[in-house]
Amino acid sequence: MDMQRIPAQDGQYNLQNYETMRESFSWDEVKKHFSWHQTGKVNMAYEAVDRHAEDPAKQDKAALLYSAPDREEKMTFAELSGKSNQFANVLKKQGIAKGDRVFLFLPRSPEFYITFFGILKTGAIAGPLFEAFMEQAVRDRLQDSEASMLITTPELLERVPQDDLPDLEKIVLVGEHNKTADKYIDYAEEMKVASSAFNIEWVDLEDGMLIHYTSGSTGKPKGVYHVHNAMIQHYATAEWVLDLHEDDIYWCTADPGWVTGTSYGIFAPWLHGVTNVVRGGRFSPDNWYGTIDNYHVSVWYTAPTALRKLVSAGEDAVKKHDLSSLRHVLSVGEPLNPEVITWGLQAFDLRIHDTWWMTETGAQLIVNLPSLEIRPGSMGKPIPGIEASIVDNEGNEVPANQMGNLAIKAPWPAMMRKIWNRPEKYESYFINGWYVSGDSAYKDEDGYFWFQGRLDDVINTSGERVGPFEVESKLIEHPAVAEAGVIGKPDPERGEIVKAFMTLNDGYEDSKELLEEIRQFVKTGLSAHAAPRELEIKDAIPKTRSGKIMRRLLKSWELGLPTGDTSTLEE
Ligand code: PRX
Repeated sequence: MDMQRIPAQDGQYNLQNYETMRESFSWDEVKKHFSWHQTGKVNMAYEAVDRHAEDPAKQDKAALLYSAPDREEKMTFAELSGKSNQFANVLKKQGIAKGDRVFLFLPRSPEFYITFFGILKTGAIAGPLFEAFMEQAVRDRLQDSEASMLITTPELLERVPQDDLPDLEKIVLVGEHNKTADKYIDYAEEMKVASSAFNIEWVDLEDGMLIHYTSGSTGKPKGVYHVHNAMIQHYATAEWVLDLHEDDIYWCTADPGWVTGTSYGIFAPWLHGVTNVVRGGRFSPDNWYGTIDNYHVSVWYTAPTALRKLVSAGEDAVKKHDLSSLRHVLSVGEPLNPEVITWGLQAFDLRIHDTWWMTETGAQLIVNLPSLEIRPGSMGKPIPGIEASIVDNEGNEVPANQMGNLAIKAPWPAMMRKIWNRPEKYESYFINGWYVSGDSAYKDEDGYFWFQGRLDDVINTSGERVGPFEVESKLIEHPAVAEAGVIGKPDPERGEIVKAFMTLNDGYEDSKELLEEIRQFVKTGLSAHAAPRELEIKDAIPKTRSGKIMRRLLKSWELGLPTGDTSTLEE
């Protein structure tokens, strides 16, 4: 087979011709699938859960197949509907109403999904926090969003700096605890007495639903605000890109603390009433293959970093399991290496379909649709309804094969509608009618897009976005650290690792012990994925005359590359 072009196999998918799909397409047609069409109002929780619970043919179907090392559970659509109604009643009793921010800081567990939909049913805005966040990360997000309620476990509560969070009025605790103050609400106790009937809050398509915090190259994490309207694109891409059918068993490996874990770990499959597999616990090739085998997973959405680990685990790990249920595999979050695609053809006899999008875009935009030939190394083509291009810094399109800024014609259904509390930040994404992604790419003469890298300093480590500023800020809180500059350093398995350069305060000396102590300081204060894997002490950190850290220069030095223009470098 020509490894430059891998055609789709006939009979494997619903192979609609790409050009025909683009021509015959309209978002209004997609909208007709929702109750909005009849009533003018909508709620994601109704479309993704209650609608199936009302359908006699679907109500007893498994919505969630959950497994973790110490727990296994199945929940039908009727059960998920009833329990999320109960939790919506718990929230209502506490006065939660439309537009309030209710955050979730929970492990990946059935309770996450129950409380998440409970929040949406009240019309409140859900804010999922990644379970591995430490105090600083939790503080930044809860302060910025002014969340009035948090749902967490007694263990994770220790990382919630309550004294710094004046807006946080109530905390729901899932699990055994001995807190008695009025502020704390016991999940189990309240659920016991809550009715499983709830009058859902019908909202407008443009009403707020979800905030995901994500990192940029400067400043604190940004609250990316999504509205119920996103369902239109989640629904459509579940059909066109994930190729989901009624009897599929679907598994998205992403955590719901990140956008992939909500858009495609919750909404896309459940809008179609498809059974969704969720795995708690840590990654190992054996238990991942085991999950596909046990649950007969047919459609699998995962990430390059995981796939690279599976490649390293070798053929033997594959052979121990029956993976014949798999019929469609997709990837997101980082560049998908052509070698991984080659391996996928050998290991699963399947093509791995790359998809490109971002927290801000809310849903997939550039993808390898099942009907397209795959060109390994390319992210594919824009989905129907989406115009993508490569633009220069003024927002003018550049010719084919020329590198530039990957841009999308705004708006589209799942696009963010604000950056919470920061209107100027939101505006800064748009130039000349284009949403400018910050990724550099080029488009070939056949319209395939090829990712090249980030244009800013954002780090992508194992598919997780890390803002250098956040890490630098944490580093200089350590008494030994005077100044810090943080970069992403290429790494074969993780894509990039976080590397920190620092100068020390007087009285401190460079030692292995000190570097490890500083690393732990970031790990326990911010989060494990943001902790630098490499640390280096320098005599000075390069800065511009206006005092900005020149991360680009640090990176060039590190990689032995030409340093380019250094005219703004401070003496
Ligand atoms: O640089 C791109 C990279 O991940 C960034 C978005 O990260 P995040 O908002 O955390 O969302 C991740 C999942 C939606 C992008 O700006 N990225 C995402 N998908 C790809 C990718 N890089 C290369 N290829 C992809 N398919």
